[in-house]
Amino acid sequence: MDDFNPSSTFAETADGFDIPDSPASGRIDRAEPEIPAYLQDTYYWAYISPRNVPLLDREIVVRTILWQQHNKLQRLAFSEIEPGQTVMQPASVYGSFGPNLAKHVGPQGSVDIIDVAKIQVDSSSRKLQPYPWANAHHANCLHWQKGPYDVIVCYFLLHEVPDEVKHQVVDHLLSKVEVGGKVVFVDYAKPKWWHPLKLITSIVFDTLEPFAKGLWRNEIRDFAKDAERYNWRRETIFGDLFQKVVATRES
Ligand SMILES: C[S@@+](CC[C@H](N)C(=O)[O-])C[C@H]1O[C@@H](n2cnc3c(N)ncnc32)[C@H](O)[C@@H]1O
Repeated sequence: MDDFNPSSTFAETADGFDIPDSPASGRIDRAEPEIPAYLQDTYYWAYISPRNVPLLDREIVVRTILWQQHNKLQRLAFSEIEPGQTVMQPASVYGSFGPNLAKHVGPQGSVDIIDVAKIQVDSSSRKLQPYPWANAHHANCLHWQKGPYDVIVCYFLLHEVPDEVKHQVVDHLLSKVEVGGKVVFVDYAKPKWWHPLKLITSIVFDTLEPFAKGLWRNEIRDFAKDAERYNWRRETIFGDLFQKVVATRES
């Protein structure tokens, strides 16, 4: 895979947005991020459709999709974050995950939620209104240059992107934490062979979520180029259907 170097084609603004360089004119134009093909082609109905988004952006939807494990998974993610820290969340999450994260971090800290779909940024911004230390930004998380952060929490994004993008996301997020800082990945994993939900999950993945089984075949750590610079911790829950992987930067 080619080395991914976002800074070669994008410039950073004070608020962390990446904007394409315009070297010929010397002028910089703020541009809308492009919707990646995997999102447009596979997940339009779930994350971009103006008709579906208001119906799906509900706590009950997330709880149902995650087989009632969402609260536990959210607690596992938040247990890695201290109040007052600087936190980034690459990609919106439906329901109250974003506002809950903002409450958990508190006004002494900050939260940046990055989403490439404008409709998702608008919903996240609405939900974050009571928490001025938390903001949603319209950008591709791969081009987000602000940081380093104390903690980055990547909640169910990886299974929705192709494997080559998983590499890019993991590498980019790892590069955006302080020494001692963490990237927390919460996502699907390969369930135990006897898991009663393995077959249905497999069918759903094969029909609706074609990139998800990349997390059945590979450890998240294996998507990282400089994995040895981080300390890796992994735990699974619910018969291994879900995993939390924490990469702590050592140098
Ligand atoms: C985090 S994932 C799914 C989370 C979870 N399944 C839920 O219930 O919301 C979905 C979000 O990722 C966003 N997304 C996908 N690729 C992205 C990227 N490269 N940068 C920023 N956001 C991205 C989509 O626009 C969508 O809002």
